[in-house]
Amino acid sequence: MKHSTPPTLPPHLTAYLASLPVASGAWTVRLRSPGRINLIGEHVDYTGGLVMPAAIDKAIYFVARPLSTPEWRLHAIDLCEQHTLSLPIEGPSPELWVNYLAGIGVQYQDQGQFLPGLEVVFGGNLPSGSGVSSSAALEGGMAFLLNELLNTKLSRPELAQLCQRSSNTFLGIPSGIMDQFASLNGLATGPIVLNCHTLEFEPVKNALTDYTLLLINSMVSHDLSDGAYAERVAECQRALAAIQQRTPETTHLSAATLEELEAVSGQLDEVAYRRAHYVIEENERVRSAVTALEAGSSHKLGRLLNATHAGLRDEYEVSCEELDFLQRAATALDGVAGARMMGGGFGGCTLNLVREDRLADVLQTVTDAYRATYAIDCECYPVRLAAGTSLI
Ligand code: GLA
Repeated sequence: MKHSTPPTLPPHLTAYLASLPVASGAWTVRLRSPGRINLIGEHVDYTGGLVMPAAIDKAIYFVARPLSTPEWRLHAIDLCEQHTLSLPIEGPSPELWVNYLAGIGVQYQDQGQFLPGLEVVFGGNLPSGSGVSSSAALEGGMAFLLNELLNTKLSRPELAQLCQRSSNTFLGIPSGIMDQFASLNGLATGPIVLNCHTLEFEPVKNALTDYTLLLINSMVSHDLSDGAYAERVAECQRALAAIQQRTPETTHLSAATLEELEAVSGQLDEVAYRRAHYVIEENERVRSAVTALEAGSSHKLGRLLNATHAGLRDEYEVSCEELDFLQRAATALDGVAGARMMGGGFGGCTLNLVREDRLADVLQTVTDAYRATYAIDCECYPVRLAAGTSLI
């Protein structure tokens, strides 16, 4: 895993600022809010499970200045869109990107904070809809910015909780905490392992020397994602409720054992059983992956990634044809220790563990095969880890 160099504002954002009728010294806050990868521990954060994410060098950059008027003037430069929001924020707006920011403001309002007038310009190099969590970067960046301006002194884990509340309540997305937590708390030195039940986390020592991570973007995003995500959350809740009938002390699904699940299989529908089976095994895989990474075993880590993909495809059913193709194409090649779909699913990226000296060949071969089959040019991003959200 490579590490990135210290951040500066991207040139297109600097150029945009120069085009505004505002003196450059007036911008009082500049920050970088990164995307994330997740090595392993997929679809377990909302069951209180273990995950192993990291923040990456692709990010959304925010620049802000105070306004004397009660409004937020927002510029989404990569979308070429602007929106002005009156303060206090009353409710959702028709634009999703506005709601990611407004939802954070509402959380601060709910804590009794008086929101200041602001002009906020943001943009960067984080692909959206690709499973690297541009939405969490948007939320985390805004939360960090308000924490600075209001001097609220929330810790990074508290900011991640605030962002998750905003997703759950303002946007109505029942997501877990992994994405926002990783974006805010990531380390440049390696991934973290996060317990999503207690929010305790620690760095994982990365002893892999000659292997690197490669993201391959399928460039597809199937519409299923939102409803299917909420269904998975509900199915896991169903499985937990059945287990709790027998063992009430099991507080969350990720704490259950396969034996406990087996014991209630007669009371559980087949779909919820399969989802829970995946979740319980995935938690074990995260523990094994920590050991594999710290021991520098690409072979073991690769096998775990492949097993996660199989579970997400067959038991959890959140993969799609294109992701399965990319995973198969990569793992058939010499120098690829393992690969899997990453993130919520139904499109986005695969994460590939590739020997450094094979990177260029793997990238070319998989890209060619994908184009020949789907007539789509996929994008590839060698992963460089970076620190979590930071002021510039
Ligand atoms: C999305 C959600 C996360 C997590 C992943 C799957 O990225 O936002 O909370 O559930 O899917 O691991």
